[in-house]
Amino acid sequence: MTNIAQIGCGYWGPNLLRNFSAQPDCRVKWVVDGDPKRRQYVEANFPKSRAAETLDTALVDAEVHAVVVATPAKTHFEMARKALQAGKHVFVEKPMAMAVAEVDELDRLAKAGGLTLMVGHTFLYNPAVHYLKAMLDRGDLGEVYYAYSQRLNLGVIRSDVNAMWNLAPHDVSILCHLFDAEPVSVSAQGTAYIQPGIEDVVFMQLNFPGKVRASVHVSWLDPNKVRRLVVVGSRKMVVYDDVADDKIIIYDKGIDREGGDKMVFDQVVPAKLVHRAGDVLMPKVPFQEPLKLEARHFLECIRDQKTPLTDAAHARKVVHVLESAGECLKRQAS
Ligand SMILES: NC(=O)c1ccc[n+]([C@@H]2O[C@H](COP(=O)([O-])OP(=O)(O)OC[C@H]3O[C@@H](n4cnc5c(N)ncnc54)[C@H](O)[C@@H]3O)[C@@H](O)[C@H]2O)c1
Repeated sequence: MTNIAQIGCGYWGPNLLRNFSAQPDCRVKWVVDGDPKRRQYVEANFPKSRAAETLDTALVDAEVHAVVVATPAKTHFEMARKALQAGKHVFVEKPMAMAVAEVDELDRLAKAGGLTLMVGHTFLYNPAVHYLKAMLDRGDLGEVYYAYSQRLNLGVIRSDVNAMWNLAPHDVSILCHLFDAEPVSVSAQGTAYIQPGIEDVVFMQLNFPGKVRASVHVSWLDPNKVRRLVVVGSRKMVVYDDVADDKIIIYDKGIDREGGDKMVFDQVVPAKLVHRAGDVLMPKVPFQEPLKLEARHFLECIRDQKTPLTDAAHARKVVHVLESAGECLKRQAS
């Protein structure tokens, strides 16, 4: 039985609380929130958990093995560090921290204490992303050319971080995972319309090793909810639409070279370029709630001393990209 203390039970925290509480080998003993209304919510809906105002109450409880951090992003480092220093395993919501140096410090503390440290990059526990990753690993797409993703919505508008730090951790995490790589260069453009200094719309460009290009468009100022990733390869093209019933659509489409280049007298005659438009496949991807799989994975990593899929090394790639892109945004604004 793993005893957990969760800090933060605002908009997202209840989802984590529900999923950790439902795990058979886990008890959420404490839920910490500075807001009395959120503590009342916990007491009314999760009678097996005790509500507390500060993390210290839970950290001094020797029965607590692990801490789940679901407070705003800027507080992640401080909360996770305190928990690791108290000898607790840590699950921290995305992004793990707001700077690479902070991720490195958390990683160092976790390793020194023999503790599990995991970040909640939920989409890596999503069966549709698993499906896509398996396709890429098998080489089904041929040579991967480029990808683009859009994560758009109207609201929720935050004041603590911009739309990039709020939304793009998902896309960057998915892309780094799919391509098993970190971008070699990153740039971004963004604009603050609603609140000064807080970009509502950001366009990022990620250049992965080789010629693999990716762009990420995030916005909380858009008429439609869009959660879409397109990956284009030499043999196949895939659309992953997280809000559609058929989340993955595989297109056997591309441009083939017919015959290859030829020499005619002393002239190179290039191969004919022909359109290929074959079958369209909508595979059945059995759905399981990603948060449930994520919660179970964290508990298994603690129990079996396994390295989490979304460990500090993965978190570092994501934070590195966001930090670099954030510097681009700052340079534009100044
Ligand atoms: N994985 C996902 O898909 C996903 C989705 C949404 C949010 N998130 C992440 O979840 C985290 C929380 O986001 P949210 O939207 O729930 O934020 P929120 O502001 O709605 O909730 C945060 C809660 O933490 C509490 N809190 C803040 N500082 C505290 C402190 N020092 N001590 C005690 N309580 C404190 C607040 O009172 C509030 O109830 C963020 O890191 C966000 O990035 C993840």
